[in-house]
Amino acid sequence: MKKIIITIDGYSSCGKSTLAKQLAKKLDYVYIDSGAMYRAITLYFLQNRVDWTSSAAVNAALADIHLEFMCNPLSGASEMFLNDENVEHLIREMIIAEKVSEVAAVKEVREFAVAQQKKMGARKGIVMDGRDIGTVVFPHAELKIFMTADIAIRVERRFRELYAKNKNITIEEVKQNLELRDYIDANREISPLRKADDAIILDNSQLTLENQLELVMQWVEDAI
Ligand code: C5P
Repeated sequence: MKKIIITIDGYSSCGKSTLAKQLAKKLDYVYIDSGAMYRAITLYFLQNRVDWTSSAAVNAALADIHLEFMCNPLSGASEMFLNDENVEHLIREMIIAEKVSEVAAVKEVREFAVAQQKKMGARKGIVMDGRDIGTVVFPHAELKIFMTADIAIRVERRFRELYAKNKNITIEEVKQNLELRDYIDANREISPLRKADDAIILDNSQLTLENQLELVMQWVEDAI
């Protein structure tokens, strides 16, 4: 069967990665979490006290960063490696969420990540989620989805995820972080979050995961 590129963009915590993983599994495609790359770069910047307002400092740091996705043999999940270290858990911490949108707005950072993402799509059979995948990374993708959901539902979903790991987290903290990231992502100068003209909108506020997958699989069949 013909392999295509599927892009999933949208606001924070809309369930993009859940849908992307389901699709990749069903279609036997590769799933790439582009946000994990920006998170890993942010982790490196914080660990090495890189001043991301200085392009010289950013360029020097990027030259020392090697990002790779590797499959966890036990869970089968794709995990993020930063300079050969598995950082999958570290990059999901709140401290990264608080800074990642600032780092992801830096021109050199975006060029670095986008160049690698474009290469990953060379063989098709890929589902990539993020903020600029349908607009910038794969403008010619066969199927583009733009996801959205009510803010209250998104906050609730992300809160449950984070609370499982950290009982000190509050709903208000999670809400503020989502709103701030969405604001920075949608208003930055370079590749702001926006729907590609040819993307299909998926509002999953009222959809079960099963219904959502069924609906999107129909779109996949139409696109192939
Ligand atoms: O998808 P996730 O929430 O993990 O992404 C973390 C952050 O990385 C986003 O809030 C956004 O600032 C940035 N990002 C981006 N472009 C992408 C993917 C993520 O700017 N393609």
